[in-house]
Amino acid sequence: MNRAPEPAERLLFREAATLAQNAYAPYSGFAVGAVVVGPSGRSHHGVNVENASYPAGLCAERAALAAMVAFGERSLRCVAVAAVDGQDCLPCGLCLQALAEFGDPAIVARMGGEVRVVPLRDLLTAPFACGDGAGEAGR
Ligand code: THU
Repeated sequence: MNRAPEPAERLLFREAATLAQNAYAPYSGFAVGAVVVGPSGRSHHGVNVENASYPAGLCAERAALAAMVAFGERSLRCVAVAAVDGQDCLPCGLCLQALAEFGDPAIVARMGGEVRVVPLRDLLTAPFACGDGAGEAGR
């Protein structure tokens, strides 16, 4: 179930939309910005970075996630994602799996033309996890 954003979540979405202007997306023309927030409340930024060898491209969400982990945080509270031109944009399946490693954050994104908030687990109901419980982040 999705809900309307709180004022702070709306601000994070605007931050992601501004960030999208820095995306490197010459092949798709689809510029995306992502802001992730962990326990500290600090924003960590990412944009999509495409490549002439297409599979080498990186989504904005995983770029932001890497920035958070490099900073020293391993738990996600919120992920805001925005395309530069106001198009609907939810994290792709690969990014949902990558994000799920670090908890069940609120995803703030435009869907059906409106900014809404949805728990990650509503978008990816059964993320893969190692049977031996090797991962410890976000739990
Ligand atoms: N992309 C993202 O960065 N995040 C998303 O949530 C969806 C897609 C990027 C990947 C690619 O560079 C471009 O958008 C078009 O798929």
